[in-house]
Amino acid sequence: TEGGSDAAKRRAGERAAEEVEDGFVVGLGTGSTTAYAIRAIGRAVDDGLEVRGIPTSFQSRQLALEVGIPVTSLDAADGVDLAIDGADQVVDDPEAAGYGALIKGGGAAHTREKLVDSTADRFVVVADPSKLAPALERSVPVEVVPDAHTVVADRIRDLGGEPSLRDATRKDGPVVTDNGNLVLDCAFGSIDDPDALATVLSGLPGVLEHGLFVGLADATYVGRENGVDVRTY
Ligand code: A5P
Repeated sequence: TEGGSDAAKRRAGERAAEEVEDGFVVGLGTGSTTAYAIRAIGRAVDDGLEVRGIPTSFQSRQLALEVGIPVTSLDAADGVDLAIDGADQVVDDPEAAGYGALIKGGGAAHTREKLVDSTADRFVVVADPSKLAPALERSVPVEVVPDAHTVVADRIRDLGGEPSLRDATRKDGPVVTDNGNLVLDCAFGSIDDPDALATVLSGLPGVLEHGLFVGLADATYVGRENGVDVRTY
C-alpha cells in the first residue's frame, strides 16, 4: 500500500523475522512490510535455519519459493508457531476498546490471512507509523461469494455503511480474490466498536470473511526511521 517509508517497513519486518526459531512453522502474511520479513527468513534459511512457511496469498507463496523457504499448508502442518503479517490500519490508543484491532485486506488476502493468523500461537503485526490510528476509519474489505454481492451490499447500507465493489486496475471488471470471490470495500466512518461490527459482518449470508481483525494480534512492531517500537496486547 502507499504511504509509509520503506526503511520503517524493513525494520519492522526484519525485527519480526528475528523471532523465528529452528523448527518453527511460520505464517507468511501478505504485503510490502511482510515481504521484508519473508526475505529475512529466506536469508536465515540460507544460513541453515529449518522452518516451513504457510503463505497467506499467491503473492507470499511466490516470494517464499523465490527466497527458498519450504512451504506447507494448514492441513499438512501441526499448528502454526508464529504468524507475521501487515495491516492497513491498527488501533493505537491503549484506552480504546479495540486497542490492537486491525483492518486488513488492502491486498484482498484477508480471508487466508485471518485463517492463518488466528491459528498461530503468536501473531505479530508489522507496520510503519502511517498505519497507526486512534480508531479504525478506513473502509473494511468484505470478501463475498460472487452471487451475493448485491445482497450483501444492501445489508451493508442497512448497517449505515457505504459499499463499493473493488475494481481491478489492470483488468476490466472487479478484483477476483485468490479464492475466486469479490470484494466490497465498506466505509463506515470511524468505527467505535470494532468487535460488534465484526460480529454483525460475520453473520451476513454470502460473506466469506471481512477485514476486521479484533483480539487476534499479540503484538505490533512499528518500524521507525531509527528502530522499532513494540506494542503488546
Ligand atoms: C493484504 O490483504 C493486507 O491485509 C496486507 O496485509 C496489508 O495491506 C498490508 O500491506 P503493506 O504492508 O504493503 O502495507
